[in-house]
Amino acid sequence: MSIPRINGLRSIELAVHDLKASAEFYRKVWALEDVAGEGDTLHLRGTGRDHHVLTLRERPRAALLGVHLSAPDRATVDALHAQAAALGAKVVHAPKELEKSAGAGYGFRVSSPEGHPIAISADVADHAQAIDDRSRPTKLTHVVINSAEVEKQTAFFLDVLGFKWSDSTVMMDFVRCCTDHHSVAIARGNGPCLNHMAYEMPNIDGLMSGAGRVRGSGYEMMWGVGRHGPGNNVFSYFIEPNGFVTEYTAEVEQVDESYVSHDAQWWLETKLFPCRWKMAGAPSELARKAMSGDLVEEENLRCEQVMARALAR
Ligand SMILES: [Fe+2]
Repeated sequence: MSIPRINGLRSIELAVHDLKASAEFYRKVWALEDVAGEGDTLHLRGTGRDHHVLTLRERPRAALLGVHLSAPDRATVDALHAQAAALGAKVVHAPKELEKSAGAGYGFRVSSPEGHPIAISADVADHAQAIDDRSRPTKLTHVVINSAEVEKQTAFFLDVLGFKWSDSTVMMDFVRCCTDHHSVAIARGNGPCLNHMAYEMPNIDGLMSGAGRVRGSGYEMMWGVGRHGPGNNVFSYFIEPNGFVTEYTAEVEQVDESYVSHDAQWWLETKLFPCRWKMAGAPSELARKAMSGDLVEEENLRCEQVMARALAR
């Protein structure tokens, strides 16, 4: 049998302080749509056919709870699980039937060596119809995680999950599992936490319309608009209510087996990064802080202090 491989990025799962306030942002500002919800959990879809692209769960501390990846079928889920166990990865639970409200399916959970939570599934329900609205996100297209041990995390994605290396810069390693240049990137920083998540817009006009909606709702663009070096994608970054960084992106490079990967030195010499247009420049101090995960931690601390004051009364 050939090496079992992940074949796509499905969704991201986040713990948030206030489910109602977070849901309002992702519905009205980010333009996702409710699919299912019960108790402290809500699943939201984009305009594509994926069952959902975001899961919000109300918790005392905001955090990354899962990067959800797809496998082509149940046999591949089993094979990936066996491969993960054989290579010494920390399996959280073995393959099992998954919750109905999340589209059901069959999957398992595993931690990266540093503790990033990864969920793998097949047979998850999808929607019969896509929604035609270019100003709204179609799908989750990449997730960037922060890591203090980038080489170990990259090796995990390549060796355990069957990703392929696309490129590296001084900031991060880019790995792919489908025709998108990258579905995951591992950034140099303090892990394990979320650097940012990126939602695909159908084209640049849609990205600008969507970004205009976000700005008009009172959320300033944190970085962009620009066009990245590796991946060639147009980018615009924002900070959502919990301090997570979320991106609208478009036109990510489509690649196949013939793609020629380059290392950080090559990308430095091309001067094509971080912005090919020389428009966005390097990320600001605020952008770097937000992407490091520090804003999420500051917001967690603020919430803990508010709760402690309330309990002391
Ligand atoms: Fe990105």
